[in-house]
Amino acid sequence: MFKNMMSWIEYRLPFMDKMNLHVVQYPAPKNFNFWYFFGSLAILVLVNQILTGVWLTMNYEPSAEGAFASVEYIMRDVEYGWLLRYMHSTGASAFFVVVYLHMLRGMMYGSYQKPRELLWIFGMLIFLVLMAEAFMGYMLPWGQMSYWGAQVIISIFGVIPFVGDDLTLWIRGDYVISGATLNRFFALHVIALPLVLVILVFLHIMALHEVGSNNPDGIDIKRDNDGSVEQTAADKKFTFHQYFTRGGKKIIVDAIPFHPYYTVKDLVGVAGFLLIFAFVIFFAPEGGGYFLEKPNFEVANPMKTPDHIAPVWYFTPFYAILRAIPDPLLGAVAMFAAIIALALLPWIDRGTVRSVRYRCELHRWNLVVFCISFVALGVLGVLPATPTYTLFSQFFSFTYFAFFGLLWLYSKNEKTKPLPVRLT
Ligand code: HEM
Repeated sequence: MFKNMMSWIEYRLPFMDKMNLHVVQYPAPKNFNFWYFFGSLAILVLVNQILTGVWLTMNYEPSAEGAFASVEYIMRDVEYGWLLRYMHSTGASAFFVVVYLHMLRGMMYGSYQKPRELLWIFGMLIFLVLMAEAFMGYMLPWGQMSYWGAQVIISIFGVIPFVGDDLTLWIRGDYVISGATLNRFFALHVIALPLVLVILVFLHIMALHEVGSNNPDGIDIKRDNDGSVEQTAADKKFTFHQYFTRGGKKIIVDAIPFHPYYTVKDLVGVAGFLLIFAFVIFFAPEGGGYFLEKPNFEVANPMKTPDHIAPVWYFTPFYAILRAIPDPLLGAVAMFAAIIALALLPWIDRGTVRSVRYRCELHRWNLVVFCISFVALGVLGVLPATPTYTLFSQFFSFTYFAFFGLLWLYSKNEKTKPLPVRLT
């Protein structure tokens, strides 16, 4: 009876067929290394955020009068409320750790290059929405940093000529940050943006499966075989899901089915991740003041500015670029340009060899300097803007942008190493 029911459903909605195509049989290059853990880990963290978020919402009160107290209530009185909250707040930081490493992998192996530009663009849209989601979430506990951090970030939009003031008013829904702001941020944080995120992740993976995964060698997985099966015109035309059998014969390719090989391999990543994640939740849930900042344990007070306002660590690389330039408008332009430059990578990089393994020495060093700049900017963005630190921020903002300029210049006629014919 069960089998009949399943085939009745399958006939009308071929769910198992699609799962088979996209999860079980999906031909994945056989040389994925640990850098390929972070996509599945990002899905895991997304699910964690959604589930813990739903349960937090059950006891959270989205009002300026009740928000702070309701978070205290969750922490002290709701059964396992502290765990739900720490899973969610640590999860936010974990999300950015995972996503930054996921993006770095893409940069190392040139996964943004043709034909994966759209996949990269979806990734960048996810990144933008994720930043908005995190920003609005941080406002909800209505602590001092929620309030003043939001004040700083919203005021960035105020520097836009002509429309700036109206825009900040529109975002806040009030002349100052108030309960009205909290209400709309709550609505966006719990439903609108998560919905957009889930849709974007779906499109991201669809776009990936259409062209297939890149890999650490950055060469295409071969569709041809050992010579025992004659290639037809259809073979030469790229039809991705027809790798494993053709004409009843097994075709040798550099791909292996996603299940069980990568389902099992990804479980190793999940286990490693959960060990670290649980350690932070149980032993250092505030992340040394970086995941939950100290002033946020005090209720928002519009009459009292904290000594030092810094956004949460995952925003600070971009925040440091904003502060590096004395003119507020130019600073904001530079900050947005830093994100747009990443989105334009598929077009800035004019090279044809994808992986850093086979690209020129300059590229390798360029990438190293880029990573150092990004981390240094992250550190500088947390520190107060003293003249010395500002000078450092200016230097690293320069090296950050230099990465893109240099890449554009040398990638056109780059002297690359010979590519392997098959995956190594
Ligand atoms: C919620 C956030 C995200 C989720 C859940 C997610 C999920 C995934 C998954 C499951 C994969 C396939 C497995 C893998 O290659 O690791 C993948 C691949 C990829 N993602 Fe993401 N992703 C996210 C954010 C991003 C961002 C922000 C970018 C960059 C802008 C990005 C760029 C890529 C690229 C280029 C690939 C293909 C990598 C390759 O084939 O070498 N993703 N993503």
